[in-house]
Amino acid sequence: MSNRNTGNSSTVPGAASPHVLAPLPYAENAFEPVITAKTLSFHYGKHHKGYVDNLNKLIAGTEYAALTLEKIITSTAEKPEKIAIFNNAAQAWNHVFYWNSLTPKGGGDPPVALKQKIEASFGSVEACKHELAGAAVAQFGSGWAWLVLEGGLLKVVKTANANIPMTMGFTPLLTIDVWEHAYYLDYQNRRVDYANAVLDNLINWEFALQNAS
Ligand SMILES: [Fe+2]
Repeated sequence: MSNRNTGNSSTVPGAASPHVLAPLPYAENAFEPVITAKTLSFHYGKHHKGYVDNLNKLIAGTEYAALTLEKIITSTAEKPEKIAIFNNAAQAWNHVFYWNSLTPKGGGDPPVALKQKIEASFGSVEACKHELAGAAVAQFGSGWAWLVLEGGLLKVVKTANANIPMTMGFTPLLTIDVWEHAYYLDYQNRRVDYANAVLDNLINWEFALQNAS
């Protein structure tokens, strides 16, 4: 037997299967005390990993095995018979995007180029943050709050479960995970406190600007 199967060349995010769990961009305790290491460890090591593992099992030997993660998502969206593949693929993508939407030295003032776009769309950074926190709280059950770009303007949208803006014609700029697994150990039912703490301390405006450019 060749030993080639011990290597893994699919380390590029979005590459075809087997899909790999991308490393966290920071240490699991990097967000203390806003998000504890316990929460981040479970969230990344159990939940995010679970989506990637389930996806690989579900697509093994199917037409989806050769597709990139993004292509799997767009190919299975709105197909009820493919909901399990869609859910796990979208959640794998959403979590990488969420990890990059946060940074240990986040929050504060956005870069000038993004701040101008935010002010043009929302009036002020505070109004944008208020709308994001409102979407996080208003999302009934599990889901995501997003800052997105649509036709040159920024807007806030929320999606349920695994749903993802790329299938809705929006360009996602950043996201906040509002599944209970993202905050319950630290905040219990106080989702609004989690959302505001993330927006004030962790949100990665630089990442949003990169996605808007
Ligand atoms: Fe999550």
